[in-house]
Amino acid sequence: MAGERETPVEQLTVEQAARELRALAQEIAEHDRAYHGRDAPTISDAEYDALRRRNTEIEDRFPHLARRDSPSERVGAGPAEGFAKVSHALPMLSLDNAFDSGDVREFLARVRRFLGLSPETTVEIVAEPKIDGLSVSLRYEEGEFVQGATRGDGATGENITQNLKTLSELPKTIGDGDIPGVLEVRGEVYMTRDDFAALNRSQAEQGLKVFANPRNAAAGSLRQLDPSITARRPLRMFVYSWGELSEPVAETHWEFLDRIGGWGFPTNPLSRRLTEVDEILEFHGDCEARRATLPYDIDGMVYKVNRVDWQRRLGMVSRAPRWAVAHKFSAEKAQTLLREITVQVGRTGALTPVANLEPVTVGGVVVSRATLHNEDEIVRKDVREGDTVILQRAGDVIPQILAVVPEKRPLDSKPFVFPDHCPECGSVASREAGEVARRCTGGLICPAQVVERLKHFVSRDAFDIEGLGGKHIEAFWRDGLVHGPADIFRLPAKAADIAQREGWGETSAGNLVTAIQERQTIPLERFIYALGIRQVGQATARTLARHYGSLVGWRGAMMEALDAETDAYRDLVNIDGIGPSVAADMTSFFSESHNREALDDLQSFLTVEDAAQPEDGGSPISGKTLVFTGSLEEMTRGEAKARAEALGAKVAGSVSRKTDLVVVGADAGSKARKARELGVQTLTEAEWLDLIGPV
Ligand code: IVH
Repeated sequence: MAGERETPVEQLTVEQAARELRALAQEIAEHDRAYHGRDAPTISDAEYDALRRRNTEIEDRFPHLARRDSPSERVGAGPAEGFAKVSHALPMLSLDNAFDSGDVREFLARVRRFLGLSPETTVEIVAEPKIDGLSVSLRYEEGEFVQGATRGDGATGENITQNLKTLSELPKTIGDGDIPGVLEVRGEVYMTRDDFAALNRSQAEQGLKVFANPRNAAAGSLRQLDPSITARRPLRMFVYSWGELSEPVAETHWEFLDRIGGWGFPTNPLSRRLTEVDEILEFHGDCEARRATLPYDIDGMVYKVNRVDWQRRLGMVSRAPRWAVAHKFSAEKAQTLLREITVQVGRTGALTPVANLEPVTVGGVVVSRATLHNEDEIVRKDVREGDTVILQRAGDVIPQILAVVPEKRPLDSKPFVFPDHCPECGSVASREAGEVARRCTGGLICPAQVVERLKHFVSRDAFDIEGLGGKHIEAFWRDGLVHGPADIFRLPAKAADIAQREGWGETSAGNLVTAIQERQTIPLERFIYALGIRQVGQATARTLARHYGSLVGWRGAMMEALDAETDAYRDLVNIDGIGPSVAADMTSFFSESHNREALDDLQSFLTVEDAAQPEDGGSPISGKTLVFTGSLEEMTRGEAKARAEALGAKVAGSVSRKTDLVVVGADAGSKARKARELGVQTLTEAEWLDLIGPV
């Protein structure tokens, strides 16, 4: 996974994103259990935060891939140890997102469709800022504040009553006699930007943890086990919805806001009641323009159907109400100084330029680095050291440099000269035709590549050696404990030395030994992937494993394929999804004697399991090209095509010499004739059904 995790989110494919979200959900849940359940975190807070951030970033770019078990759905990772649990009488919901005016129109149209409203009926919407804080539920019984809870996973949160009592804006009692016996109100606890800056200054002075943004500061302050710490933090609150009520409070959301405002709860003064979509969009634009001048962070607007009876009818889908939507703001931009461009070397030797920036807050996060992707990108944008650049963070995505500000360029500025030698090992860094990356040619003499390859080798989707993270690999490599991949399997013999190292002990060294030994038997596809051959990701590794079946079979075929005149080479490039470019990377891997030696060395430690053959391998039409003609009675053409493809066949539109089979339905015309002329086998529909068998 390391390789994929390093891929900037904006470059991930949908498949990679889905895979990574699944892995992140599992990994974060495991860390949560270690932290909350066993009180034994296995990674640092910063690493943990980075995992959660990556999860959010991917979800922000691919919202449709967000999983039900997503860590972002479990705000604050479920109830933390130390706080009692609170089950919410009514679940605390999240909101669906709208990203543009089309999504907003669709939201309004869906509301109308769902309610079956006539065109003359107006739908009032309350638009209010989406506060970037942390949601809480406040329970009042007979006017007394009795319990306050975090959202937790939406169903169960943490009891933070004592902490919430320290908020000066929170009414402890509600005087008005006309209030329901049970009143749960919900809202957002936040910190203003000024208060956040002051808090961070004081934290830094005392050598304490500084927070990344006001939201984190608010969350961290509220979830203190010691309420006296919370009391010293400048937390504020806006209330915007309700939970359990012993009797209704209002018939509209607007009236609700009005009433709770009267009871002393802070409500957001920017909220508006609107009816026309154009007004709503205009208001969104106004608020977005004012965003930077507001004292607190907002990340969009929330639109709510005003009538409570309609809200009830609209209900919810999964965890979000159908009657509300969050209309996000476009990415926040900021300007800052680009101090220096440095160049990093990755596992495959690719040189990636990185912009080192004067730290700046953009989208609520302090940014000090941004990727410049590659040499061409620097030229295209003419980015230079000393330039003032415009940065953007879309949602939580890694910051992008959009452009430079030409008027702020220093007079003596010079274009950035991309190195033609590796900054890590000094080898020539060359760029092949058609490639965007310049690569270090140092291979195994390049320490950066060696270390990155080792990290990849032990990473989650490769050997998955638990407890052996990137930092350990760097340290082991630096101290000469590992040079190549097989040295990982020599570590158990050095367990006593490892136990003596800083940050290690008998137990952790023992666990590492077990983790390594558990991985000495490995499926072929993981083994191939772990080698980190360029362009051989998980999918290709799986294809290769299935195609060649065993390590011996694969190695043998690759050695033969070094000669492009052989059947082995032709067979390789004919594999679906491989082709000459991937084949070239594979043969260049096998042509290097040090790689072959590394393989021999590894094989002496490992049992590499043969690959399971694909289930459809035995399909009678696997790999064949089919044409359907005439009308089928038992299934539509679309279904027939889908079945054929699922069984590994290709479906073509016209008959040629390359066609293997033509399925002839009723009233077939020229295609059936052509098949007969060319001597291509034909099947009736009944024969076709017989051939493919039941679904
Ligand atoms: S309404 C059933 N209104 O956004 C309605 N939520 O992405 C539930 N939020 O969990 C929420 N400002 O923490 C609502 N004016 C606002 C909000 C707001 C911020 C947060 C809230 C919620 C999250 C959903």
